[in-house]
Amino acid sequence: MGSSLSRSSQGFTEAELSNGLKEGKFKNVVIMCGAGISTNAGIPDFRSPSAGLYFKLRKYNLPYPEAVFEGRYFKQNPLPFYGLIRELFPSTLTPTTTHKFFSLLNQKGILRRIYTQNIDALEYLAGVPEDKIIEAHGSFQNSYCTKCSKTYDLKWLKSETFNPERNEGVPKCTDCQGVVRPDVVLFGEPLPSRFWSNISSDFELCDLLLVFGTSLVVSPFNTLVAKSKKNVPRVYVNLTKPGETGSLLGWLLRMGANVDFSRESDLVMLGDCDKSVSRVCDDIGWSEDLNAIQVTSLEDTL
Ligand code: OAD
Ligand code: ZN
Repeated sequence: MGSSLSRSSQGFTEAELSNGLKEGKFKNVVIMCGAGISTNAGIPDFRSPSAGLYFKLRKYNLPYPEAVFEGRYFKQNPLPFYGLIRELFPSTLTPTTTHKFFSLLNQKGILRRIYTQNIDALEYLAGVPEDKIIEAHGSFQNSYCTKCSKTYDLKWLKSETFNPERNEGVPKCTDCQGVVRPDVVLFGEPLPSRFWSNISSDFELCDLLLVFGTSLVVSPFNTLVAKSKKNVPRVYVNLTKPGETGSLLGWLLRMGANVDFSRESDLVMLGDCDKSVSRVCDDIGWSEDLNAIQVTSLEDTL
């Protein structure tokens, strides 16, 4: 205990987190997560300097990096989006230790919900049931034609995306040749209704909020951190401090959401999330259970 990686500005400590989990004190854990939980699966995050996706985008000559994920820009030019997807996804995709931890919390019967910004479906592949996952920014599971609305599955989209010589780099509808896009939320588009409809009941019950691998600069997702009751412990597990992106745009995107984790019941655990999770599970005596979690790789599902 008392690792140098864990810091609590005030009251809540890593020891209290471990003990609380061990003693069954938390019964409705809500998780919020982002790209940082999938970097160890080989998917770059968005904003980390030099390794982040937005850094890699420089070659596409976009007006600004976020344009690649803008609904308006996609309509004009879907090529950078698909170029990026081809770079983004490793050939095999396997859930990380942190994803397994989510599944373990579910097995222990204490997972209320996961709110994820990720579109890689790794929470699902780690064995978390669909009804426990809210994909706030959509996913790649389904896609549709932007002209005639015909729907396609992941297998089709993957095959069309990774054979760009067939379609000039952009998957096209087999019926009308319209551009096909995955059912992800691009900037400027509304979040799925499931995101909004569960917030009040989830956060009413939430007795532990765990936030993993997200810079918390994107609204409205980042506003969720303020939804838990004031005395409920909130734990932020991330490489860098909340809201830190080093860019003016990142600062603007944060749009004034209070993500500084300065409540008395907050704990900030800076460092690699898989290491933090392993350490906590070690402490509780859950390591064996964690290792026993069965996962599926994306390759196996196609
Ligand atoms: P970001 O790239 O903004 O933030 C990822 C965070 O994870 C950073 O703060 C990293 O320091 C941290 N991180 C990276 N690797 C880590 C590791 N191994 N362990 C712990 N922390 C790690 O990604 P998101 O916050 O998910 O939206 O970005 C939010 C949204 O912005 C995305 O959903 C996407 C993007 O534009 C849309 O496309 C609509
Ligand atoms: Zn069509």
